[in-house]
Amino acid sequence: MRQKLVVANWKMHGNLATNQQLFKAYLEKLSTLTDVDVVVCVPYPYLAQAQSILKDTRLAWGAQNLSKDAQGAFTGEVSAGMLKDFGATHVIIGHSERATAYCESDENIATKFIQAKAHGLTPILCVGETLIEREAGVMEMVVAKQLDTIIHTYSAAVFADAIVSYEPIWAIGTGLAASSDQAQAMHAFIRSKIAALDEDAASRLKILYGGSVNPQNAVQLFVMQDIDGGLVGRCSLNAQEFEGICRAASSCQ
Ligand code: PGA
Repeated sequence: MRQKLVVANWKMHGNLATNQQLFKAYLEKLSTLTDVDVVVCVPYPYLAQAQSILKDTRLAWGAQNLSKDAQGAFTGEVSAGMLKDFGATHVIIGHSERATAYCESDENIATKFIQAKAHGLTPILCVGETLIEREAGVMEMVVAKQLDTIIHTYSAAVFADAIVSYEPIWAIGTGLAASSDQAQAMHAFIRSKIAALDEDAASRLKILYGGSVNPQNAVQLFVMQDIDGGLVGRCSLNAQEFEGICRAASSCQ
């Protein structure tokens, strides 16, 4: 059975003082929750802070991006090895906020995915369609294409023990989450696409849902068969709301 996982995506929020409070509040509220994995993805400069506060606790930490290259003259980039130096275990890849603002191609995203795996980091690959694509009924085609670059360049086997987060772009930060049926349908599509090529990888792949997850809608999403947890933006900045979401995951084991 895949243990539920909840990932906090702090995006570009926080500072040393507020992070410290939030980490401490997470630890107070979540330390006894032993049947849900929790990962906090912080902005790069705060990885050291995450490491010093969270090490030897139940909470893991990660980053929100990484370089597609291992090292070299790439000003401003941060490599997988550097993330490992600060104890990161996970890294978000291809988040739509980056893919649009920084023109990330599917090829770049695929290289980052493999770069993370090669360094022992768990990639959290974000996929999802726009509202126009959903209304046109082409959402599965769009998500399939996002997965295909990785499958064709590498193989379906690379999805074993990786994470895909289905994040419909229209649901991110809008307060309008996908319904549990819409999310489950896409999660089942993603799993079956991988399973058609590699059943073992598909059963070991965690598929998270992201996009306006909150304590009120979390149970109905997490109870679905192919939804292994959530990637949480806004509500991860409030310890009480984040706790509610993690407890919802626990109740759906
Ligand atoms: P949200 O963000 O929870 O604020 O919608 C989710 C995400 O972008 O990962």
